[in-house]
Amino acid sequence: MSTETSKITLGDENFELPILVGTEGERAIDISKFRGSTGYITLDDGYANTGATLSGITYIDGEKGVLRYRGYSIEEIAERCDYTETAYLLIYGELPSGDELEEFRRNIRMHSLLHEGMKTIFAGFPPDAHPMAILSSVVGALAIYCPDALEPSNPQHMELAIYRMLAKMPTIAAFSYKQSIGQPFIYPRNDLNYCQNFLRMMFGVPSEEYVADPDFVDALNLLLILHADHGQNCSTSTVRMVGSSTVNLYSSVSAGICALWGALHGGANEACINMLEEIHAAGGRLGKYIDRAKDPNDDYRLMGFGHRVYKNYDPRAKIIKEICHRLMKKHGMENSIFELAQELEEVALSDSYFIERKLYPNVDFYSGIIYSLMGIPKQMFTVLFALGRLPGWIAHWREMHLAPGGMKIHRPRQLYTGSAQRKFVPLIKR
Ligand code: ACO
Repeated sequence: MSTETSKITLGDENFELPILVGTEGERAIDISKFRGSTGYITLDDGYANTGATLSGITYIDGEKGVLRYRGYSIEEIAERCDYTETAYLLIYGELPSGDELEEFRRNIRMHSLLHEGMKTIFAGFPPDAHPMAILSSVVGALAIYCPDALEPSNPQHMELAIYRMLAKMPTIAAFSYKQSIGQPFIYPRNDLNYCQNFLRMMFGVPSEEYVADPDFVDALNLLLILHADHGQNCSTSTVRMVGSSTVNLYSSVSAGICALWGALHGGANEACINMLEEIHAAGGRLGKYIDRAKDPNDDYRLMGFGHRVYKNYDPRAKIIKEICHRLMKKHGMENSIFELAQELEEVALSDSYFIERKLYPNVDFYSGIIYSLMGIPKQMFTVLFALGRLPGWIAHWREMHLAPGGMKIHRPRQLYTGSAQRKFVPLIKR
């Protein structure tokens, strides 16, 4: 890749480390042999400065606010692709031909039903169970109900597991909602596209025909695309970490769903709407909340603001804000929460605290507002994020298993700071 090296001096000894250069000129010092040759490990709390892998899926330039899937800008993908086409691109690396796309969609449609026995799993959850907990549990249970496609090293198993995962996740997500509101499950329909089908499974009832609003279908399609991949984020890294033990795709994705749920990651969309509603209910005065977010002695943060990688406006947030405007205009909607969100953004972006730290709205800041307009309950927001992120998780899991040099189990080291060796004290003397 590059013949450049970097030099490091430890005591009296000099060491050379290879430098790798990515497609866009990004540079990385290869430390894979560092401990073997020096005896030292590197330490990087939160992996803020650690490249965990080579990857050809998504490019992000956080300083410039650039996001590309397989080389195509997110703006162009959002405008010209649909979600299943984007999933194909992310997973297999190229835009599909017409025939390839049709076959891909047919394969997904073929697998959208759940084993009937799985319905009893939903029935066992209490009505107030969070749908993210249900989603991760039921996706994990796919490993029980689909035992014929568990082996990542078997190409047929891998392909079958990919179709099943893409096909069954919307069904599981919608069933988890239906279970929580006590309505009958609505089975998937193969004549509908991915987003129409999901909305029907969410909002349809057996007693009436349901036709999804085409604007909401488009908005959902766009939101899923915008969430589809984002490099080595917390949930994707989790999928890779778990998958690196060679466990099956369902178990790896189930772990990714758990990682996504947290409020610092995908759970921020639900937390953000809760925050906006709280501010709104308290009269919409922003000062107190901005002050709390800036107070170093207060844990409070503006949800939907800030990003580990973006030190500029998140390009996804820009597109989502535009969709909010478009939907409101077309449907003549008024939304005081959207107005409040825009006001909050304006105030924060002119405040030196946020400017100096380069804190901008992220993908979660406006997405919840669209979901609310579509009638999707808050608890389902992060489930929708998971549905969107699924192709990215699959693409990374597949890329890792097919890596030319083979796959290594992920196993970081640590710097031990606990007690030095000490003598055991028997229970009676403690
Ligand atoms: N509100 C107020 N201050 C913030 C915020 C925020 N939302 N985000 C970061 N800061 C401040 C921190 O307090 C810190 O200040 P300091 O330098 O004075 O200590 C500084 O900005 C840097 O923040 P870090 O926490 O070090 O940044 P990190 O990269 O670790 O965290 C994160 C990124 C988790 C996204 C953070 O910005 C955050 O908590 N945001 C709110 C939650 C959120 O929206 N998460 C969704 C992220 S996008 C996604 O996962 C899809």
